[in-house]
Amino acid sequence: MAEKCVLAYSGGLDTSVAIRWIAETYGVDVIALAVDVGEERDYEGIRRKGEQVGAVESLVVDAKQEFFDEHITRAIAANLTYERKYVAFTALARPLLAKEQVRVAREKGATHVAHGCTGKGNDQVRFEVTYAALAPELEIIAPAREWGMTREDEIDYAKEHGIPVPVGKDSPYSTDTNLWGRSIECGRIEDPSLEAPEDAWEWTVNPLEAPDEPEYVTIGFEQGVPVSLGGERMDGVRLVGELNALGGAHGVGRVNMIENRLVGIKSRELYECPAATIILEAHRDLESLVLDRETAHFKQHLELKYSELVYYGLWFTPLRVAIDAFMAQTQKPVGGEVTVRLYKGRAEAVARESDESLYDFSLATYGEEDIFDQSSSRGFIEIFGLPAKVVSMIRGVQE
Ligand code: ARG
Repeated sequence: MAEKCVLAYSGGLDTSVAIRWIAETYGVDVIALAVDVGEERDYEGIRRKGEQVGAVESLVVDAKQEFFDEHITRAIAANLTYERKYVAFTALARPLLAKEQVRVAREKGATHVAHGCTGKGNDQVRFEVTYAALAPELEIIAPAREWGMTREDEIDYAKEHGIPVPVGKDSPYSTDTNLWGRSIECGRIEDPSLEAPEDAWEWTVNPLEAPDEPEYVTIGFEQGVPVSLGGERMDGVRLVGELNALGGAHGVGRVNMIENRLVGIKSRELYECPAATIILEAHRDLESLVLDRETAHFKQHLELKYSELVYYGLWFTPLRVAIDAFMAQTQKPVGGEVTVRLYKGRAEAVARESDESLYDFSLATYGEEDIFDQSSSRGFIEIFGLPAKVVSMIRGVQE
């Protein structure tokens, strides 16, 4: 009996060609595995296609709930944004895909795992670091890195092997989509001196053409997790889906950036992530109300590190687990409601409320109810400013 290989399958040309190429080149039986992390597609069609193009078995796993519960909620807790702009949805999903592959590989007694990533991107790293962390015994096959085929070669190969080739005008872009966002790369996007081509966007309207009336949306949080929209409780997968639609209609969540990849390449990236943009805006805002100053400031340092290590694919590592534990502790008081205004591409938190609020009106007010004893500030500043005063006196003014 031939050895088996579990391939992360998308139903696209690359991974369809990969099924045949792996079987021919390595003499293994290929099991195709598609994982649904919230890209709206015909998964039954994808499953059947996997079989048609030569997989001995073709499987689909619905991992949307797990993606929300285990990955998106943690991203929210850590306000995850790589290089201040990218909410890292692809980076968040890859470890889950790889984990599912490992699970299936063990179930089916496979000796190999494979993915369709090229040798130039981050995704190969995220897949393979996860395989290594979870199942170092498995052999890794990376066809797109090994076969040296151009797109034309791939199409020829597909035709020779009876693999359906996309008809009509092929999309000029390469995209990756899940619940938390959609990325668009390649084609004209590769010239960073040009404005993003309008046809790259699918989830968001052009902010210039967004409605002239703002829309207000109220998001409820419990321990840092969004649990309701406009007062209606709903599960996270649905909540994110609804915010993607609402935000997209107002042009919210378009990102246009130059990004530093882990492999050293700078790349021009477009992202659309309406729900993530709105939720992170609301979540940061709620934190500003309920977290004490020192925790809030310290947390920012760990957010930066967390974002980097998730982007780098280091999900199944002790540091990620440890920072998550810190984040989880900080999220205990993060409950309440935040109202966000959606208007012409922008999502802005405009009002917030929480039982855990640390905002004290009688301390903050300049009105009659003021109880803050202003006379104690004098002594505070004297001691707080003492080091600056001493340095100036001894060494002169520092400028
Ligand atoms: N640059 C982004 C990242 O590294 C997006 C990657 C999209 N992946 C893809 N296979 N199209 O996370």
